[in-house]
Amino acid sequence: MRIDIVTIFPEFFSVLDVSLLGRARQAGRIQLGVHDLRDYTYDRHRTVDDTPYGGGAGMVMRPEPWGDALDSILYADEARGTVDPIVIFPSPAGELFSQAMAQELSTEAAIVFGCGRYEGIDQRVVDYVSTRARVRLVSMGDYVLNGGEIATMAMIEAIGRLIPGVVGNPASLVEESHSDGLLEYPSYTKPAQWRGLDVPPVLLSGNHGAIAAWRREMQLERTRRVRPDLLPPA
Ligand code: ADE
Repeated sequence: MRIDIVTIFPEFFSVLDVSLLGRARQAGRIQLGVHDLRDYTYDRHRTVDDTPYGGGAGMVMRPEPWGDALDSILYADEARGTVDPIVIFPSPAGELFSQAMAQELSTEAAIVFGCGRYEGIDQRVVDYVSTRARVRLVSMGDYVLNGGEIATMAMIEAIGRLIPGVVGNPASLVEESHSDGLLEYPSYTKPAQWRGLDVPPVLLSGNHGAIAAWRREMQLERTRRVRPDLLPPA
């Protein structure tokens, strides 16, 4: 998968050099391009924002550097023969990110993330890019971040680990929170007793049917307690 990021803070993304995603890049499973939006400005101060038309607090990102940055990335994708890239703008006004969306996006050939700052990006950028590529506004949750960088990082991690070969043991992707719509069951390892706390005896029983039933019950109990909104209608 090809991933491009447009940001005024390229240094944010140095963490993608380490851990699972770092190894995925070394193995060539993920190709990453981080682009500094200010490289697409032409004034001495490398200005990317301005006051909002109509008034109001805060600053809005000007469309010109965004247009040039995204044009250049989309041309490069085309030249590389990458078909149909998708452009994602992280935004608290977007559709809510989910495991299902991560799953869907993990099959894309190329994703471009446009990280807005301040009060957002001039709407014409989204309108223009929509004429050239598929565009989605995506929110990490009902809270406000200072910009799209952290949201992009979270999405790249959630999407990247679903790309075949990135996580060493694919079975570990199957039994985890949200993969089947429920929260994960609690896990235990050795020692069997620690600080007076015992591992649930069923897990030591060797009875695989009983273990599976216990885990399912734990998933349901936990989901009912903390995330009843995730339960399927009875
Ligand atoms: N940018 C600012 N807040 C955000 C959020 N909650 N999700 C995605 N991008 C954002």
